[in-house]
Amino acid sequence: TTKKFTVEKIDYIYERLRTQITSNESSITSQSYVFFIIGASGDLAKRKIYPTLWWLYRDGVLPKNISFIGYSRSQLTIEQIFENSHKYMKIQEDEHDIYEKFLKLNSYISGSYDKSEDFENLNSKANKISHQVNAHRLFYLALPPNVYESVSELISKHCRPASPGWLRLIIEKPFGKDLESSNKFSQHLNKLYTEEEIYRIDHYLGKEMVQNILVLRFSNRIFSRVWNRDSIAGVQIIFKEKIGTHGHGSYFDEVGIIRDVIQNHLMQILSILAMEKPRSTTGEDIRDEKVKVLRCIAPIKLENVIVGQYIDDKNVPKDSTTPTYAQIILFIKNERWDGVPFILRAVRSKALNERKAEIRIQFRDVPGRMFDEELSENNVERTLARDELVIRIQPDEAIYLKINTKRPGEMNFSIEETELDLTYNERYQGVKLPNAYERLILDVFMGSKINFVRSDELQEAWRIIDPILAEIEKKKLQIIPYKFGAIGIREAFDAAVKQGFIYT
Ligand code: NDP
Ligand code: BG6
Repeated sequence: TTKKFTVEKIDYIYERLRTQITSNESSITSQSYVFFIIGASGDLAKRKIYPTLWWLYRDGVLPKNISFIGYSRSQLTIEQIFENSHKYMKIQEDEHDIYEKFLKLNSYISGSYDKSEDFENLNSKANKISHQVNAHRLFYLALPPNVYESVSELISKHCRPASPGWLRLIIEKPFGKDLESSNKFSQHLNKLYTEEEIYRIDHYLGKEMVQNILVLRFSNRIFSRVWNRDSIAGVQIIFKEKIGTHGHGSYFDEVGIIRDVIQNHLMQILSILAMEKPRSTTGEDIRDEKVKVLRCIAPIKLENVIVGQYIDDKNVPKDSTTPTYAQIILFIKNERWDGVPFILRAVRSKALNERKAEIRIQFRDVPGRMFDEELSENNVERTLARDELVIRIQPDEAIYLKINTKRPGEMNFSIEETELDLTYNERYQGVKLPNAYERLILDVFMGSKINFVRSDELQEAWRIIDPILAEIEKKKLQIIPYKFGAIGIREAFDAAVKQGFIYT
């Protein structure tokens, strides 16, 4: 019988989190917390950070004595900040009272990003609001990267809590635009903060199915035995998005899809998929293994890179050479993976009506040709379809395994491809999955580093991607145009097939 999870079970996620926060902080009832949103007037704050804080507060998983302070240059009131966020908050009819309580815990202060006195002012306001000079402080930098350096410096200088209060600094990508700028920024942070205090967000690490990879790989004998070059023919990590989301265009034109998505989100997924089994589930052990496998990635050959550009987007300047499509095939030179192609493909196109992110692990052909006779129809040679494990990150989280089965009811060995299907919204009906930002912000409260990027991981990811970006530019790699209606780039599919992928 199928065990269905009911709506009541939603609470199991939050109940566990609540217990973890309270057990981490025995003095939870008296200890104060201040959560700072630096860049409170901006897009990320409006669409993600304020709504997430509201949901966490509504669900009762935040510490009891908490206040939230928004900070940016614009002269605004907290009411205006909340008005801007209102449509993303999704407040239900019966939640107005608790929403009012949440609003009362919030305040807004305006100030510069480069003047000591403004941060001194922020510090004294925070002391006053929290009634404690040693409140734990969390700073979310929802700012453009050009002000990261000055803001992080001023926070460290002027806004540190008195002991035993701790400080945690949450930073959004981009962490540099290449290896050099990323290292420079890391060195800057290292002078001001301990690695313990820094939480580099890659929000893909907060997604349910990305978090599930560890469990899937290391708690199932059936997978752990075949997770290697002997059984796996190739791995694809695919990201697709409709162009135009979040008003990208000019920002994106400077960055391109390799820096925006592949260097971080897809490389993170790759490292979890390919790493060796960590010694434990602690953040350090997991991140040690992620770094180790990244170190084994061989330099990418230019012939294994394909870039494309969507040509019907008015937001993109005519002379732009920024890729909106990229496929990178890379190889991990270690005993487990030698020779197995890992294909990272990211695409933005208007032709797509949904965003999609998935992992496809294709297994090798079955040796021996026992079923040849059953498969050949009208003298056309067919081979047995390959097994394929698909982990769908979004939309509609799912894990399914494509396998061959005997066509039901047939007398002979007629074979058809089918799926062992674990689609989440069928199997776990009514379970609410917290979104990535909810999980990650809670992780910061709990001091859990598992889902944050360590500086050496970042450095390795840039080490792999940086030379390719430089070569694309230097050698003026041809940018293949694609149009509305195109589902992909022929050359990219051909390259995957050349590496042994079979599309059925
Ligand atoms: P915004 O462009 O909205 O900037 C946030 C705030 O910073 C603005 O409201 C503005 O506040 C101030 N600001 C803007 N430009 C400058 C400037 N040139 N110099 C100084 N201050 C400036 O950024 P987002 O909120 O979109 O993004 C914040 C960070 O998060 C960025 O690093 C971005 O890359 C990252 N990010 C964003 C995502 C998103 O969905 N938006 C997704 C993933 C990452 P004021 O003028 O009031 O001071
Ligand atoms: C961000 C990129 O990191 O991820 C955006 O900067 C992209 O360009 C976004 O749209 C995708 O995230 P998600 O969660 O919508 O898949």
